[in-house]
Amino acid sequence: GRVLSVASECVPLLKTGGLADVVGALPGALAAEGWEMRVLMPCYRPLKWRLEEMEEVFAEADLFGGPGRVMAGEVAGRKMLLLDAPHLYDREGGPYAGPDGDWGDNAQRFAALSWIGARIAREGLGDGWRPDVVHAHDWQAGFTPAYMDYWGSGGASSVLTVHNIAFQGWAPASLLSALRLPPQEFHPAALEYYGGLSSLKAGLVSADHITTVSPTYACELMRPEFGMGLQGVIAQRAGQVTGILNGVDTDIWSPEVEERPYNAASLKAKAENRAVLSGAFKLSVPGPLAILVSRLTYQKGIDLIPEVLPDFIAAGGGLAVLGTGDAPLEAAMRELEVRFPGRVGVRIGYDEGLSHLMFAGGDAVLVPSRFEPCGLTQMYGLRYGAVPVVALTGGLADTIINANPAAMAAGCATGLTFHPTEPPAFAEALRRLIHLHADPAAWETVQRNAMRHPVGWETSAAAYAALYRELMA
Ligand code: ADP
Ligand code: GLC
Repeated sequence: GRVLSVASECVPLLKTGGLADVVGALPGALAAEGWEMRVLMPCYRPLKWRLEEMEEVFAEADLFGGPGRVMAGEVAGRKMLLLDAPHLYDREGGPYAGPDGDWGDNAQRFAALSWIGARIAREGLGDGWRPDVVHAHDWQAGFTPAYMDYWGSGGASSVLTVHNIAFQGWAPASLLSALRLPPQEFHPAALEYYGGLSSLKAGLVSADHITTVSPTYACELMRPEFGMGLQGVIAQRAGQVTGILNGVDTDIWSPEVEERPYNAASLKAKAENRAVLSGAFKLSVPGPLAILVSRLTYQKGIDLIPEVLPDFIAAGGGLAVLGTGDAPLEAAMRELEVRFPGRVGVRIGYDEGLSHLMFAGGDAVLVPSRFEPCGLTQMYGLRYGAVPVVALTGGLADTIINANPAAMAAGCATGLTFHPTEPPAFAEALRRLIHLHADPAAWETVQRNAMRHPVGWETSAAAYAALYRELMA
């Protein structure tokens, strides 16, 4: 079968978070299941140079205020469709925001992406290609299933995947007709959301099927603590909601392809990686060296770190931080570095290469999220034997087996979990980390279990393929 994936970011073209990793991994993972997936995304300014080697396969003269065309070509083995619409995407800045904050026309920018996705379903591309299934991701593609529903789908089915419910694509109701939405659909059971519009809600009510990126998050989303206003909408569709875990690209994320390679059978070189990592962050840590690779935001529980760290440091631990995000949290991380020289090292910035060294050299990875739809860094931690210390929520709960007495006795523990996401529980997990690390036999057992735990795409690709097949039947 054929799938059109519609998203706002995709590795290796553009990435701000895990969404891009997943959108970029799905085509390869699904090819193994016999599915041809093409990915439609906006042609932002940094991608423009790629158009030279691409071919026009679709065009619209007036795409929300200017011309748009879809250019097809292959990038690193992926069949990409770049939506070239300079009036919407050719600007200096990020995909969602410019120097003065979010782009004022984000509603139009991503409605345009969704509109083209729906038109491709309806009419097919110039080369005759036409999808059986349209797979839309997050609020940026949320209107795709809605347009398919309202203006015709050409027989294609639609799937909407929620990667993060916190971003809902809100827009004022006054944009209704400008966004090419039927006015008669402006009511609570369809487009209306707290008096305005939400592209995510539009997708949730109109998609043939809804998925999210872990089974636990699928349940959480139906509760007010996690649904962020959309819990009722999702609960109403509970029969069409499935949680499918993200995987990891195990060719890129493997301790065996790093500069100082190691694996579960021979962990010796992990110590060398730790030494290099310590050098890079100017650290000298007697106990476990923990790492944090994350957006520095409230979701990720970063504000808890300063509260729990002093005791962890006093017990011999250390921490290397790599991240960017909210200014106060960046400042808080920098303060820790000053307060604990030689024990805490902080890099504010985005650095894919350094993140590899951190997983290779780190003893543990901290993921104290308040909510986490899936999370990828705990899975990198598993792969690299950097024992995950995670909040028991969302995908973290579905990927890590807590080293409690039962799991230790059964020989299957892969990390440490804590609940709720508050300082006492987090601090207690760090005390357990110190103790586990001090017991070399138990520590190595957990490390090896972690490294042997499968985190590839195989199981989840099969689950997506089964879902697509079901929708086509
Ligand atoms: P989210 O998408 O919510 O940010 P995920 O865990 O799903 O969380 O994905 C985050 C991705 O971004 C991972 O691949 C992680 O390694 C990467 N990442 C986050 N911050 C940085 C950083 N400062 N430098 C390098 N990689 C980062
Ligand atoms: C979102 C979530 C994260 C998830 C990623 C990819 O960014 O915050 O938990 O792993 O999407 O699905």
